[in-house]
Amino acid sequence: ATPGRLDIVIFGGTGDLAWRKLLPALYMAHMHGRLPQSTRIIGIGREDWDRDAYLQFIQARSPGLIAPAAWSPTHWQRFLDCLDYVALDLAQAEGCGGLSQALSTDALRVFYLATAPALFAQICARLHADGLIDPQARVVVEKPLGTDLASAQAINAEIARHFREDQIYRIDHYLGKETVQNLMVLRFGNAIFEPLWRAPFIRSVQITVAESVGVGSRAGFYDHTGALRDMVQNHLLQLLCIVAMEPPISMDPDDVRDEKLKVLRSLRKMSPSDVKRDTVRGQYTAGVSEGAAVPGYLQEADVPAQSRTETFVALRAHIDNARWAQVPFFLRTGKRMQKRQSEIIIEFSEQPFSPFGQSPGQQANRLIITLQPEESIELAMMVKEPGSGMNLHPVRLSLDLQETSRQRRAEAYERLLLDVVKGRLTHFMRRDELEAAWRWIDPILAGWRELDEVPRGYPAGSWGPAASSALMAREEHGAWFEAS
Ligand code: BG6
Repeated sequence: ATPGRLDIVIFGGTGDLAWRKLLPALYMAHMHGRLPQSTRIIGIGREDWDRDAYLQFIQARSPGLIAPAAWSPTHWQRFLDCLDYVALDLAQAEGCGGLSQALSTDALRVFYLATAPALFAQICARLHADGLIDPQARVVVEKPLGTDLASAQAINAEIARHFREDQIYRIDHYLGKETVQNLMVLRFGNAIFEPLWRAPFIRSVQITVAESVGVGSRAGFYDHTGALRDMVQNHLLQLLCIVAMEPPISMDPDDVRDEKLKVLRSLRKMSPSDVKRDTVRGQYTAGVSEGAAVPGYLQEADVPAQSRTETFVALRAHIDNARWAQVPFFLRTGKRMQKRQSEIIIEFSEQPFSPFGQSPGQQANRLIITLQPEESIELAMMVKEPGSGMNLHPVRLSLDLQETSRQRRAEAYERLLLDVVKGRLTHFMRRDELEAAWRWIDPILAGWRELDEVPRGYPAGSWGPAASSALMAREEHGAWFEAS
């Protein structure tokens, strides 16, 4: 490939992900001059459209998703000049027809598979049959890759027939978030945390990814996926890996991914009785979300009336290794929760002895890493309450990450797409890593099938089913630190 020439081909070019995330991210990268001089973006869709029809489709959707401060009609026009469209119905024609003609012969090729994973094998086979996969070509595949270990292995095997592992970018956009990457710097770039970052100094870890949105128009996908596969298998487990991994020897892709793999392999597999005791499945019912009355999951468009799909999961995980033995990791995610808030809370152990006696205000220290909506790091610590006596009072030492630098903070998709172009695999999942995550998830799915329970209802706008608090209260593990 000639440096400076790039063809990005988006399969699923008319899909939600393309117009909601990928094109706005590519616009930002283009506007800031981060893409090669001669970049072309080719949307592929089933619709029998020409380029103009595609541009109109995008024009009606994507601009509204670009931050007003970054919006420039002139730049948008220039960006649209890079866009092309090729109609391809995978159920019909053979090969990739029009795509072969649309591709440059000497550009770096990035194939972004933003379709249902069931189509990945077919797409790869067609690209191969038409001779479109050269040794530099890269393929990006979206999550969730498969619905269980066996299907993930089958998809990985199909992709591997046509691409080498170092050409495959398994994307998890949480790994592109600034604060998630920052977590590695916090841990491995500061001497003060690492000695304490283990049992017995840490009492528990809580990871919450709460969303205020409901299922929206995605029931077709979501209803046979559920929160465990949609969020826990990938995003939450990746966060857990970064919190729990040993320091990698470098930021090289395999050094980082080797360490994450070890964490995934150390996760204790749940037996059916563990699943019953340590997991909670919920489904939202009608309620009030951010001031507006909203329907329950079962009343949403395209959701089957009897659906038992979970829109909320809370669970308690254990990592059986020297660093984390006995430290519970509580994971929780849900749609239609009280607010959009993602955070990782490291709860330190209590002091072995307090010279202040039983001061009512005394709390254990906590490190609170907020990923969204705002990015911040806070340390909950004790100070003296002013006045006579030695009463303790909790306060937060806080770092607003927005304020630490004037530099623009790119969205996750932009950062990761640029990594693909630069050939940086560190923040993408390796095949064995992804399969290890499924290996831990499969017994939970099996346990749920065996239990055959209706998910617990929780009103939209709440923090999830009461049972999720019970999970924490057991064995005196306090409570979820609700987003504050
Ligand atoms: C996606 C899930 O991977 O992540 C969605 O499929 C979810 O269901 C989304 O809403 C959350 O991403 P973010 O970046 O908004 O936290």
